[in-house]
Amino acid sequence: MNTPNFHVRDIPIYGDAILAPMSGYSDLPFRSITRELGSAMSYTEFVPAPGLLKEIETLYRKLLYTESERPIVFQIYGANVQELVDAAQRIEQLGPDIIDLNMGCWAPKVAENGSGAGLLRDPQKIGQIFRELNKAVSIPVTGKIRLGWDNDSLNYLDVCKILEDNGAALIAVHGRTKHQAYRGNANWDAIAEIKQAVSVPVIGNGDVKTPGDIQRMKAHTGVDGVMIARAAIGNPWIFQHKEREDISYEARADMLRKHMQLSIDYYGADTGFRLFKRHAVKYVYGTHGASRMREALCDVETPADVHDLIARYQAKQLSKVPA
Ligand SMILES: Cc1cc2nc3c(=O)[nH]c(=O)nc-3n(C[C@H](O)[C@H](O)[C@H](O)COP(=O)(O)O)c2cc1C
Repeated sequence: MNTPNFHVRDIPIYGDAILAPMSGYSDLPFRSITRELGSAMSYTEFVPAPGLLKEIETLYRKLLYTESERPIVFQIYGANVQELVDAAQRIEQLGPDIIDLNMGCWAPKVAENGSGAGLLRDPQKIGQIFRELNKAVSIPVTGKIRLGWDNDSLNYLDVCKILEDNGAALIAVHGRTKHQAYRGNANWDAIAEIKQAVSVPVIGNGDVKTPGDIQRMKAHTGVDGVMIARAAIGNPWIFQHKEREDISYEARADMLRKHMQLSIDYYGADTGFRLFKRHAVKYVYGTHGASRMREALCDVETPADVHDLIARYQAKQLSKVPA
């Protein structure tokens, strides 16, 4: 077997690129696809601790996983220490390998409530949460952060020290502040500083769009792994370190069919088809007639429509190939 790239406590991680947690996207069907193509571990979408304690069924559905996804990371968020601890204890029973705390969500209804990136304003509380979580569960507890609340409070080094001192087994860093949301460039220099400052594994995140970017971020920052969010939607081949332009129409068509079927099998016909459509339009970037195909994909109503569309555009691709 290959050598692991790094360990999360005693869990070996093989590979250096990881599908980032993405609410509404990193569900079981998409995670299975990306894990199969090489994403080194699987993070669920974030789920709120208070909702888990209320036994909300749809949230528990987000924590279903397949054995082949392991190592599987359950990501939770919340602002109340006891709720986070109780929720973590409850979901540990479901057999995840790792529990991750979200400290990066910038959405006002999350961050302004003191959870997600809101926690970055209270590093001592982060320390308390990790101390308590590590007492309460036996599996590794990890954290995903941003660089701070805004440019005037870039406290990432303090936060990372506190995380490490209180038993975080890995730190993932999106190189932007809460205030930036997605504006500006991710600050890879800051990620490099973090890697220098702590001895637990660090995963870098932000603006990795191509296989070349994976290598560039690793070289620039020294991180143990790289996390990819937006650029993986419609392009799971990035985990095979393949360029999107090199993916044939046939391979994209196969993936469209496979993703649609996985989504329908998992959610049932209506919800599965609706959620698949979010991904579908992204699969065709860069193909002949992509913009028209994307428009047509927005309008499809049934799986049969998708199969027809794929066949229709297949003919266009072939007509483009010189004899
Ligand atoms: C639609 C969407 C949903 C997201 N949901 C989550 C989430 O549930 N948990 C989390 O930690 N980050 C979430 N993020 C942030 C990403 O994990 C990642 O940190 C961010 O998109 C930057 O990476 P990128 O430049 O590769 O997109 C989400 C991002 C997007 C675009």
